[in-house]
Amino acid sequence: MNKNNKKDIYILGIETSCDDTCAAVVKNGKEICSNVVSSQNEIHGRYGGVVPEIASRRHIEVIDTVITAAFENAGMDFGQIDAVSVTNRPGLIGSLLVGAGAAKALCYSLRIPLIAANHLEAHLYSNLLTLEEDIEGGFIGLIVSGGHSSLYLVESGWKIKEIGHTLDDAAGEAFDKIARFLGLGYPGGPIIDRLSCGMDENAIDFPRPMMDSGDFNFSFSGLKTSLIYRTKKDSTLTKKENIGNLVAGFQKSIVDVLTTKTMAACRKFNMERILVSGGVAANSRLRKEMMEKGRENGIKVNIPPVNLCMDNAAMVAALGYSRYIRGEYDSLDIDVNSHSDI
Ligand code: KG4
Ligand code: ZN
Repeated sequence: MNKNNKKDIYILGIETSCDDTCAAVVKNGKEICSNVVSSQNEIHGRYGGVVPEIASRRHIEVIDTVITAAFENAGMDFGQIDAVSVTNRPGLIGSLLVGAGAAKALCYSLRIPLIAANHLEAHLYSNLLTLEEDIEGGFIGLIVSGGHSSLYLVESGWKIKEIGHTLDDAAGEAFDKIARFLGLGYPGGPIIDRLSCGMDENAIDFPRPMMDSGDFNFSFSGLKTSLIYRTKKDSTLTKKENIGNLVAGFQKSIVDVLTTKTMAACRKFNMERILVSGGVAANSRLRKEMMEKGRENGIKVNIPPVNLCMDNAAMVAALGYSRYIRGEYDSLDIDVNSHSDI
C-alpha cells in the first residue's frame, strides 16, 4: 500500500523497436525500480548504421537476460508485476516482434494485462518520470531521434496530433550519416556533440533548412549535402584542427531549426510548455538552446536526463501505467507495425 492507501502498481516495460534491448520496472508510473538497456552500438558500428536482420537476432539472444536483470535490479519476482507494457509500433518489424513475443508470453503465463505502446508517445512520457507534477496535456512535443523528427500538439487528455515531421532524414540520421562520411564512428550524434564542445560554431556558415517555411516540417538532407559539398571543395575542412568547427556549425544549424520551429509551434497553438525527447534530445547544444529560448519566451521546457532521452523501457512502463489505471488493455493477439499511428 502507498501513502494514499492504494495498492502500488508495478509495470514491466519492454522496448525492442530498433537496436536496444530494454526492460524496466516502474512503480506507480513514476518511480524507476530498474532500467536495463543492452545496446547493440558496437555490433552495428562496423556497418555505420543499424542492420535490421542483425538487430532482431541480437534481441532474441539477450531478451531473456535483460528481462531477468530488470527483475533482479528491482529486487522483485515475476509474480509481483501488475501488467506488461511493450512497444509494438513504430519500428523495425523483426525487432518489434521479439519484444512483443516476450511480453505476450509473460502476460499469458502470469495472467496479467498487456498494454501495447507507441514508441513516440512513450518518448513523451519519459518526461513524466522525473517531473513532480502530472501533465495531462496542453503542450508541444518534440521527438528527435535516429528515425524521427516530429512536432506534436498534445491537448488535454493526452490527445496527440502530429503537426510536422521530417520530409527526408531525421535529425539523428543526419548526425549519423555525417559522422560516417567523416569517418568519426557510430552513433554519430554523441561524437559530433563531443567534438563540437568549445569550437567556433559560426566559423562555417551552414543553411537553416525550412526554418522559415511557415509549416512545422523539417528537412535535413540538404544540410548534409551542403557539408559534403563544402568538404569536397575545401579538403582542409576535414583536417584535425578544423573538423571541430565544421561539425559544430553543422550541429548549430540543426539546433537552430529544431528550436525555432518548436517555439513557433508554441506561439501558433498558444502553448506554454514544451516536452522534448528522443536520442537527439541528449545533445548538449540542443538542451542549452531549448532552455535559453524557453526562458526568453516564457515557455517551460522539459527535457529528461540523457539516459531517459535515449531508447529505454522505463518510458514504455510510464505510458503503460497511465493506460493501466484507465483499464485500457490490449488483446494478446495484437500485431506489430512499422508505422506510427500518431
Ligand atoms: O531515440 P534513440 O535512442 O533511438 C531511435 O529511436 O532512433 O535515438 C538514437 C539517435 C542516433 O541517431 C544518435 O546519433 C542520436 O540519437 N544521438 C544524439 C546524441 N546522442 C544520441 N544526437 C546528437 N547529440 C547527442 N548527444
Ligand atoms: Zn527512440
